[in-house]
Amino acid sequence: MYRLAALFAFAGLALAQPIQYLESKKVFLITTRQNSYALGVAADGALRHIYWGAPLWRADDLSAPAQKRDLSSFDPRQMMEAEEFPGWGGPRYYEPALKLSREDGNRDLVLRYGSHRINGNELTITLRDITDPIEVTLHYLVYPDFGILRRNAVIRNGTQKVLTLESAQSAVWNLPAGEGYNLTYSTGRWAAEDQLHHEPIHEGQKVLESRKGHTSHNFNPWFMIDSGDAGEEHGSVWFGALAWSGNWRFAIEQTPYRQVRVTGGLNTFDFSYPLKPGESLDTPAFYGGYSAAGFGAASRMLHKFEREQILPNGMSSRLRPVLYNSWEATTFAVNEQGQKDLASKAAKLGVEMFVMDDGWFGARNNDRAGLGDWFVNPQKFPQGLKGLIDHVTSLGMDFGLWVEPEMVNANSDLYRKHPDWVLNFPGRPRSELRNQMILNLARDDVKEYIFGVLDKLATENNVRYFKWDMNRSFSEPGWPEVAPAEERKLWVAYVRNLYEILDRLRAKHPKLEIESCSGGGGRIDLGILQRVDEVWPSDNTEAFDRLRIQEGFSYAYTPKVMSAWVTDVPNMNQRSVSLAYRFLVAMQGALGVGSNLNKFSDQDTATATQMIATYKRIRPTIQTGDLYRLASPRTEDVTVNQYVAADGKQSVVFAFRHAQQYRTDAPAILLRGLDEKAVYKLEAVTNRISPGQQPQYSGAYLMRNGLALSLRGDYDATAIILDRQ
Ligand code: GLA
Repeated sequence: MYRLAALFAFAGLALAQPIQYLESKKVFLITTRQNSYALGVAADGALRHIYWGAPLWRADDLSAPAQKRDLSSFDPRQMMEAEEFPGWGGPRYYEPALKLSREDGNRDLVLRYGSHRINGNELTITLRDITDPIEVTLHYLVYPDFGILRRNAVIRNGTQKVLTLESAQSAVWNLPAGEGYNLTYSTGRWAAEDQLHHEPIHEGQKVLESRKGHTSHNFNPWFMIDSGDAGEEHGSVWFGALAWSGNWRFAIEQTPYRQVRVTGGLNTFDFSYPLKPGESLDTPAFYGGYSAAGFGAASRMLHKFEREQILPNGMSSRLRPVLYNSWEATTFAVNEQGQKDLASKAAKLGVEMFVMDDGWFGARNNDRAGLGDWFVNPQKFPQGLKGLIDHVTSLGMDFGLWVEPEMVNANSDLYRKHPDWVLNFPGRPRSELRNQMILNLARDDVKEYIFGVLDKLATENNVRYFKWDMNRSFSEPGWPEVAPAEERKLWVAYVRNLYEILDRLRAKHPKLEIESCSGGGGRIDLGILQRVDEVWPSDNTEAFDRLRIQEGFSYAYTPKVMSAWVTDVPNMNQRSVSLAYRFLVAMQGALGVGSNLNKFSDQDTATATQMIATYKRIRPTIQTGDLYRLASPRTEDVTVNQYVAADGKQSVVFAFRHAQQYRTDAPAILLRGLDEKAVYKLEAVTNRISPGQQPQYSGAYLMRNGLALSLRGDYDATAIILDRQ
């Protein structure tokens, strides 16, 4: 009883006062419903980390950070002190948050607390170098209901000379000093994104990064660290996700002094950022949180936060429509009649958004020509796009269009006219990948040109949706038009201008929606998610492969933005699985269809129509509910995911059997997130009920005894809808 009362009191306090400051000790306590974060000013003026973990409520419990003692002349006290934002200077040998050099070659930087301000949910602390007017303003914006803290740093040159930044990180996340932590993260490549890894953290440094100019398929900018024994639904998990779609870097470090920290932000690789007197650099936002209830709860915190605070229209953004995309059906061979036929068929299935993919513009008959020439191909569309778009809208669907604005083929009018617009080092080869080069978006003239092209397309056509693609990584990142010392600003300026174009487009065309695609999942992060409505996780649409890709995706990103198509078989890996299986995989995110509808049998059409109708009934639960990963494709013979609606009235369980062996039955699955007192009515989406299964069960029974699944043979799948009675 007493504990319960204290908790309620605490919840009230947390909401009323998310940031507390105790002047007597110079400590700050930042509190949310799920966690707390504390920091303070040490006697020497250094800003030091104190706490990150389960919620605290009493700032008076905290002590000012104590000054440590040198262990030896090789082990200075600084190595044992957890600074919030360490400059590189003095005896510090670990990863710095900021490293710079002055014009005269002096590179020492020691940051000390200067002042702070608390404004509602935001704490800003300004640090200053011990001798020079070099200022770092640390921002801590807390989201008390979400358990998320947004951090970043603004670095300002208050001196009279140029300062060149060599490393400018967003934040350092210090964990409680100790050992035995595990790191969870994802790696990948084209068509194999979001592969999860879970491994012990040892002494030394592990780097996750992109040097490719975009977020990249290889690593994705999020991390989870657990105390060594966490699972899906239990244990301490600290996590973070960076909002940046360019070169980024996380250094995950455990020192011989049991300090464990993640230092992350702009990649230090090929980084050099001069600041003239008075100039500043605003580093990307790094969001972090802590969950006491495992990886599943950490993911759900991120999902809710993204839906309500990151996505462009937040809470009021609409549910994602069921989409059809022409790519896998027609590739570059698009024309007005062919697309109209596909649109008619898609509309009959219940599709709500028809997207014409690559091939509609310039001389784009294959990937060797046309990129950059964003005018409608007159042979393929003699009437322009109007005929097709009118047809699509008359069928009750919205129209979407594929674009790849940052790119140019050598064989294009744009490149012939502006060969200087691409990234290049003069006199050096311009590497082509997929026969294309990258326009230097860091240039303001290129930025204005691209904005103009897209604005015109959106103004002149009834286009509701752009699929914005980006089909290669950077190479030869030269910017010959600026002074050599300024050239490497490109890594930052490119992304800023990309964001600016997206922001301006959205402001001017408020109904326009955008999908971020980069040859699949090459540009997915919290920065792009602030500007797009959904993302394309992978060009791999093979349903069995997708189970793992989607699981990895779901660690950091909400299913609402996870575009997932049903496509034809045999697909990648030459595997063929049933159409129902393919639908059930894709229905776990923002459902789309990419099949060649001209090849659909009557039976396929009936299955697709029924599945799309069912999806629309469960869509709010999938897109805005809580996701519980009940069985993982990495470790089990079955994959099971459960979604629970925000209001608790509905839950949907998706289950997939990979390869039955020895005639074993699929295991009963203990459900989660239900009301134990409530009774739920069961409905099998594929009309497959397990033998002996009753039509209704209590939440208690389903969570404690489990739900029996009828799954046999290879690649069998089912989904059960549970409606609360
Ligand atoms: C990329 C995308 C695909 C498709 C093609 C078009 O590979 O990921 O979905 O749009 O480009 O060229």
